[in-house]
Amino acid sequence: MPTTLYPAKSMNPELRTTAALGKFHAAAQAQPNIALVKYWGKRDVVLNLPTTGSISITLDSLWTRTEVRFVPGQAHDRVSLNGRSDAAETKRVVACLDLLRQRAAVDWGAEVDSRNNFPTAAGLASSASGFAALVRAGAQALDLGLDETELSMLARRCSGSATRSIFGGYVEWTRGRLADGSDSVALPLLPADAWPLRVAVAVTSIAAKQIGSSEGMRHTAQSSPFQASWVATQPADLTTARNAILARDFDALALVSEHSCLKMHALALAAQPGLLYWNGATVECMHCVRTLRRQGVPVFFTIDAGPQLKAVCAPSAIGQVKAALREIPGVLHVLDSGLGAGACVIAIGALEA
Ligand code: PMV
Repeated sequence: MPTTLYPAKSMNPELRTTAALGKFHAAAQAQPNIALVKYWGKRDVVLNLPTTGSISITLDSLWTRTEVRFVPGQAHDRVSLNGRSDAAETKRVVACLDLLRQRAAVDWGAEVDSRNNFPTAAGLASSASGFAALVRAGAQALDLGLDETELSMLARRCSGSATRSIFGGYVEWTRGRLADGSDSVALPLLPADAWPLRVAVAVTSIAAKQIGSSEGMRHTAQSSPFQASWVATQPADLTTARNAILARDFDALALVSEHSCLKMHALALAAQPGLLYWNGATVECMHCVRTLRRQGVPVFFTIDAGPQLKAVCAPSAIGQVKAALREIPGVLHVLDSGLGAGACVIAIGALEA
């Protein structure tokens, strides 16, 4: 597949409007997001509906770029992720393509080529950016004419956290009440440039995680004694975080984000057997961030289902935060990102058939 399809400046917002070169073939870019109020638990496994709402920030300098070409008459899908083919990932991609094909009422096979500019095993929600980019590109290739809310709903079916990467900046994913999931969608809370915080990611292991998030969520809901209080206390955390974001209140956002992160891990730790996603360096990084904050540095941490620590800070603090995290034994490297845009179409190719 032609990699030259990608324009050099993929983040140029004008590219959003340069569509209309052809059909069935498009490329899109999406960025990972990091939850500040965590999603951990599904109320419907098939529709991927969350037990609680969540709030996240979308990053900018880390991305997935995905090219999708539907080929009329082709029976099978061919999927390449970072230049390789992986059976488990291909299965998830094909399930996502099936949803797109169902919408378009076609049965064409597709060629999918997807690349990340960050290590897939770095615990950086590559499934969020991956499926947001896939849905964005696939919907464009089939000319489905979906708005961002509908795209977020489709992305949710493929990977829960992908629903939030459809939007940029600060994003809320609502739990929804309806059984069909039509009210469980992502909503933009604040654009990235309205409060341009930065994120340093301390990578403490590149080993693939042992228990994926879906399995971890199921196991936790079945066996953790804290499940009911996790669900009961989430609405208050969402309100606090939403208000802190709208008021650009860093200290309030720091407190509720660390609280939600630690509460999610306490919930998982209390499962039987307990899920321990941290290593020693993760814990040292948490102490480091807390020490910096006590010294007046505007920074807080959050950690997902893996050992990497994400330190969210004011732009003025990023140098100091990165330098401090790099000093910690066991930190392999520190990535750095600002907040960015939602998934966008970056190119549309002509139909070759
Ligand atoms: O949707 P998944 O399978 O990527 O699960 C995401 C789970 C967490 O990253 C731990 C929390 C979150 O809200 O992103």
